Amino acid sequence: MSASPDLTKEQAVAARIDDRLRQLQRLGSGDEERGADRPAFSAADEQAHALVAEWMAEAGLEVERDPAGNVWGRREGTEPSEPAVWTGSHLDAVPGGGRFDGVLGVVAAIEAVRSLSEAAQARRTICVVAFRDEEGWRFNHGYYGSRWVTGSLEAAVAGMRDAEGVSVADARAALGLVAHPPFVDRLRTSAFLELHIEQGPRLAQADRPVGVVTSIVGMVEAAVSFHGQAGHAGTTPMEARRDPMAALADFATGLFARARSLPDSVATLGTVRVLPGAANVIPASVTVSVDARAATAGALSELLAAIHEGASAAASRSGCTAEVRLDDSASPAQMDAAIMDALDAAIRTCEIEPLRLPSGAGHDAGILAAAGVPTGMLFVRSGAGGVSHTPRESTSREDIAIATTVLERALRLLAER
Ligand code: GLV
Ligand code: MN
Ligand code: MN
Repeated sequence: MSASPDLTKEQAVAARIDDRLRQLQRLGSGDEERGADRPAFSAADEQAHALVAEWMAEAGLEVERDPAGNVWGRREGTEPSEPAVWTGSHLDAVPGGGRFDGVLGVVAAIEAVRSLSEAAQARRTICVVAFRDEEGWRFNHGYYGSRWVTGSLEAAVAGMRDAEGVSVADARAALGLVAHPPFVDRLRTSAFLELHIEQGPRLAQADRPVGVVTSIVGMVEAAVSFHGQAGHAGTTPMEARRDPMAALADFATGLFARARSLPDSVATLGTVRVLPGAANVIPASVTVSVDARAATAGALSELLAAIHEGASAAASRSGCTAEVRLDDSASPAQMDAAIMDALDAAIRTCEIEPLRLPSGAGHDAGILAAAGVPTGMLFVRSGAGGVSHTPRESTSREDIAIATTVLERALRLLAER
């Protein structure tokens, strides 16, 4: 292993990664301008998993699909009875998403394991994994694949429905992914390491191509409905209305203020459904999605209380009723100290001073960490001011090359322990 990366080989690897990211982005919308379009358990999501399985096989990995639909590429170690090291991320994408989110962590991992294996067989087996439905936006419930492998996927998720009324079970069945047994014994891993784009501006501000994640934000996903009285927009006096949109406006103002008052906390109302939904009709009901996040369990429970109390107070001020449906939650997660040290050491071999930072986005790594798996994350610098969940999301080929080398070297350290 050389002290500084072999640039020619790294550039060729980064070019192949970049080409594959573009191939995956074209699945779905088929258009780079419109961005990625791979809802979990859609035909495009399935094609992405099939393509990644081909790339795993081409890199000499033994490919397996588990009952949840996760795709695994396994490279056996010299001591295959030892718990394996896992690395990977997710392939589903938000509507109009970028081509790096999740996908980079899978595609770069295949290259890191290929090049690690070319040098010498590692002691532990290394598995690259492409997890299902990390994003969670389609069914308002995320981390399907990583929850399945950790035994924390609730049976009720099968019945959750998307905006068109399609259930998780039906979407899976359409792809030939039938009901699966509960997780039994797959969790034989010594470490999980996820490479991901930062999706924020901090590495760019610090002028570092990569960084080591210390913790992952906790989050709550809910749907809040306000029910009132439909009526004529022109003839109903303001004081005679029971307008659920007024309740929503009141609720939103209170929740945003609460998020601003708590440390490292955010709240987003990303979708609104209005019934019956006409410009000249006072709505009968309004349903809003709520995504609330915080770095600590204490702040997250304050946000959850603000959702419940804020919804019922706003409803009663507008003569309406409120209903809060809690769809999903994940606790804040700490990354493993020894894995952070291994990442620091791997970064230093590239003559870069490591930088540590928290993650405001959710990741499968948080689910693995919560299940007790020693877990770490390597962030790659985002371009374009750190924007993400938009087609403008970017990362340079140079940074991809460095990150893939760091991943390979960190995996080597973890596989030899
Ligand atoms: C996943 O991208 C998230 O919403 O944090
Ligand atoms: Mn995402
Ligand atoms: Mn992601």
